[in-house]
Amino acid sequence: MSVVLPRAALAPGQNGAVAGAPHDMVPRSDALAAAPAVTTGTPLIRLRGVTKRYGTGQAELMALKGIDLDITAGEFVAIMGPSGSGKSTAMNILGCLDTPSAGQYLFHGAHVEALSRDQRARLRRRFLGFVFQGFNLLARTSAQENVELPLLYRGESAAVRHASAAKALQSVGLGGWEHHTPSELSGGQQQRVAIARAIVTEPAVVLADEPTGNLDTQRSREIMELLRALNVDHGITVLMVTHEADMAAYARRVVRFVDGRIDSDTPNQRPVSPDSPAVPAGKP
Ligand SMILES: Nc1ncnc2c1ncn2[C@@H]1O[C@H](COP(=O)(O)OP(=O)(O)O)[C@@H](O)[C@H]1O
Ligand SMILES: [Mg+2]
Repeated sequence: MSVVLPRAALAPGQNGAVAGAPHDMVPRSDALAAAPAVTTGTPLIRLRGVTKRYGTGQAELMALKGIDLDITAGEFVAIMGPSGSGKSTAMNILGCLDTPSAGQYLFHGAHVEALSRDQRARLRRRFLGFVFQGFNLLARTSAQENVELPLLYRGESAAVRHASAAKALQSVGLGGWEHHTPSELSGGQQQRVAIARAIVTEPAVVLADEPTGNLDTQRSREIMELLRALNVDHGITVLMVTHEADMAAYARRVVRFVDGRIDSDTPNQRPVSPDSPAVPAGKP
């Protein structure tokens, strides 16, 4: 399945770089007015001593106990680990949906932990795309309208929204399905709509929390193939949580969480690709 991104701004990245970076990546103007200047060569994402505490007193729980993590533009990282080890908590912080209790989160040199809620929302809309296990599409709303939504929040005109969403749906293999609602689509198709929604804004980073958790093997592989293409062909940085080694095998780096800490961080020299040897018998 080939992926054609909506507009030209995300030209295929050399060395995985996002087109236009670093200048285009520098959080500009009102989005991050308080952001310090960016130094070239800075990792796209840097966590330092990040902790997350939920609850207080007897109910207190340290979901993250001090995370250090650097991610360079163009990486494809799988985050693995047992249930409750802090993967989703870390993803929510990385996705600017939540803030650390302590520590630093630098996004392209900008201190996210120091941003206001509003500034974080703008950073999110400008640079990040999200894919969730449960698809999180609006019911009784067409695929086209679901994909247009992030552009609506951005204040794009109807014409731009329409054209960009149609192209994004085309790029995930759903041309012709624009007017179907989620209930008229299979799980795999719904997740592809969600991916179209994630990439319609041409994000620098796609964050996917167990994107294949609700899908069978064949559908999972199609989703992984899409994520791989976004990463390899378009230089989008992909951060993905998965329980399944088969899915993590598509990533070029595997970070394993255990009990709120990073337990291991390993490169994958041979990520799955269309050129990989045939998968073992019994697996489509
Ligand atoms: N909003 C919350 N309030 C209280 N505890 C939470 C909250 N979210 C997560 N936790 C707890 O934090 C720990 C890590 O959760 P989570 O990040 O969801 O783990 P994972 O995604 O690895 O399964 C778990 O013990 C979980 O119960
Ligand atoms: Mg989780």
